Amino acid sequence: MSDKVELKYKNKSYELPVMIGTENDIAMDISRLRAETGLITLDVGYQNTGSTTSSIAYIDGNNGVLRYRGYPIEQLAENATFPETAYLLIYGELPNYEQLANFRRMLTQNALVHEDMLHFFVGIPPMAHPMGILSSMVNALALYDPKYYAEESDSEDFDLMVARLISKVRTIAAFSYKKSIGEPFVYPDAKKSYCSNFLNMMFHSHAKPYDEDPLLEKVLNALLIIHADHEQNCSTSTVRLVGSSKANLYASVCAGINALWGPLHGGANQAAIETLLQIQESGMSIDQVMDRAKDKNDSFKLFGFGHRIYKSYDPRAKVLKNLVAKVFAERNINDPLLDIAYELEQRALNDDYFIERKLYPNVDFYSGILYRAIGIPVNMFTVMFAIGRLPGWIAHWKEMHDDPNFKIGRPRQVYTGLLERSYVPMDERY
Ligand code: ACO
Repeated sequence: MSDKVELKYKNKSYELPVMIGTENDIAMDISRLRAETGLITLDVGYQNTGSTTSSIAYIDGNNGVLRYRGYPIEQLAENATFPETAYLLIYGELPNYEQLANFRRMLTQNALVHEDMLHFFVGIPPMAHPMGILSSMVNALALYDPKYYAEESDSEDFDLMVARLISKVRTIAAFSYKKSIGEPFVYPDAKKSYCSNFLNMMFHSHAKPYDEDPLLEKVLNALLIIHADHEQNCSTSTVRLVGSSKANLYASVCAGINALWGPLHGGANQAAIETLLQIQESGMSIDQVMDRAKDKNDSFKLFGFGHRIYKSYDPRAKVLKNLVAKVFAERNINDPLLDIAYELEQRALNDDYFIERKLYPNVDFYSGILYRAIGIPVNMFTVMFAIGRLPGWIAHWKEMHDDPNFKIGRPRQVYTGLLERSYVPMDERY
């Protein structure tokens, strides 16, 4: 701590400590504010509230920077694998050969779900959204894990829970898809890598065996890495808040999955592609789309644009846009939705409304186009996001539990309801 903020309230002065982060983020520490002044702070939607210190991810929203544990996201997406990135986020450093081999072995050994859990899938209605299936199944995983109550974040039990979650979530996601199309489940294959295994479980069938595809595996690795963490976003803050009651890791992650489902957060990747499809099918011109997106009385929303933190181009969108160009060129893919997306982006970047509000494509604008190219159905897009974000959620749960200043999360409010009044029995009220 250095520096202080001087606060004047009712003719008295108070000094609030200022904290400076390693990347020079500055924060006024208000933890003693209420005790000393009686005031609380009001910040609807936590637009300007730091809920914790953290050393996991760094974002510079004005300059389009995102780093995991100091490593630029562009370098990780280009060179690392998803398990390596997951290890980095959760344990703080990139793994050495032995650590990575051990982590991979644990992922492989924990890839299966208990056979009894397969009965759960039988009862799921055919139209169920895969995000609902995923959160239900992750909750159910806790029932099959005798260590699910473990609170220690630096124990072998924790390491096992990490492997079980990261590996089984992938299996559950693929099983949900197979269930939705009425095909038999494809079990995980111990000889395949994390992403190759997922693609095999999704797309292998008796009619059409899945051939390993290094390009698609690279794309999937990059997509999952891109999604792996994003500091105190809605779902991660949810995981932290739920975990702060000492709820177990499964319960906390499950809450994160549900928070991610919403269209203003992870659900935006599904909403973004549906918007592009709507534009294509309705034959709306780009002019009409822009007008509707800007019209406050119109419920139409341009999903995949705008971000609470990024006031410049989202670095994740930049990586994905380059990847789209590479994959589409290499595979000679033609997707009319990509043409619409390019045109929309061009128009928005030159439109006063978007410029003034600093609205740029976010991660969800191009991720859906890539998922389509891989063959992932639209209603699975947010599930893919959840698989990717899982290491980030786990890393935050661990960081919070390791923090010597651990406290249950409990925001305050400014009450605006009625003053005290007396209860009147029903027959006297009317
Ligand atoms: N299209 C048109 N206008 C927009 C958009 C958009 N996609 N996003 C924001 N705006 C406008 C708002 O109407 C508002 O205008 P105003 O100042 O005239 O009232 C202004 O830009 C600021 O927007 P807010 O919603 O106040 O910004 P906030 O930081 O609260 O919300 C959010 C950010 C939720 C991401 C918003 O930009 C949005 O709804 N975008 C579409 C949904 C989306 O793509 N979400 C995914 C985000 S990335 C992720 O979660 C992984």
